[in-house]
Amino acid sequence: MAKIGLFYGTDTGNTEDAAKRIKDMLDAVEPGLVDIYDMSRATPADLAAYEYLILGIPTANIGQLQTDWDIFWPHLDEIDFAGKKVALFGLGDQYAYGNTFMDALGMLALKVQERGGTLVGAWPAADYNFDASLALDGDNFYGLALDQENQADKTQARLEAWLPQMLAEFGIAAPAAVA
Ligand SMILES: Cc1cc2nc3c(=O)[nH]c(=O)nc-3n(C[C@H](O)[C@H](O)[C@H](O)COP(=O)(O)O)c2cc1C
Repeated sequence: MAKIGLFYGTDTGNTEDAAKRIKDMLDAVEPGLVDIYDMSRATPADLAAYEYLILGIPTANIGQLQTDWDIFWPHLDEIDFAGKKVALFGLGDQYAYGNTFMDALGMLALKVQERGGTLVGAWPAADYNFDASLALDGDNFYGLALDQENQADKTQARLEAWLPQMLAEFGIAAPAAVA
C-alpha cells in the first residue's frame, strides 16, 4: 500500500483529470507514493487505511456536493480522521457560480475537521474572482482551487506550486522534488 491515498469524485472528468495529473507528478517524486481511487468505487475502509489523504471534490448543482461524494458522505462519520493529514483540492467555476464557488470544498474541509483530521495545503484566494464561497478560511481556501472553465491555463502552475507545499506539510517528501 502506498503512503498517500488520493480520492476523487467527478461528474464531467475535470477532477479526475486533475487527480491523474497529481498522481503522475507524485509518481515522479517517488514511484508508488500514491494510490488513486474514484469515489464511486471507494469504501470507508479504503480511506481509513491511509495516514495521508488527498481528496478531490468538484462543486455540483449550485453549491452541492458531487454525486459520489454525496452518496459516500454518511460514511465519513464512520472514519476516524484523528492523526490523518488531509489535503483537499476542488474544482469549480468562479464566473458561472460566483456565489457558491468551491462550496463543496468548504463542506468537505469542515467535515474532515469535525472528524478530527488535520488539514494541510491551504491556498491563497487572491487570484480568483467570485462573490462568496464556503471554502474560504480567511484569505485562503481550505485547499487548492482549480477552475477549468475560466483558468485552465493556470492549472499546471497551480499544481506545481501546491504539491511541494502540501508534501512539505505532510512531512514525507522533499519539497524541491516536484516539478
Ligand atoms: C449544473 C452545474 C452546477 C455547478 N455548480 C457549481 C457551483 O455551485 N460552484 C462551483 O464552484 N462550480 C459549480 N459548477 C462547476 C463545476 O464544479 C466545474 O465544471 C467542475 O470542473 C466540474 O468538475 P468535474 O468535471 O470533475 O465534475 C457547476 C457545474 C454544473 C454543470
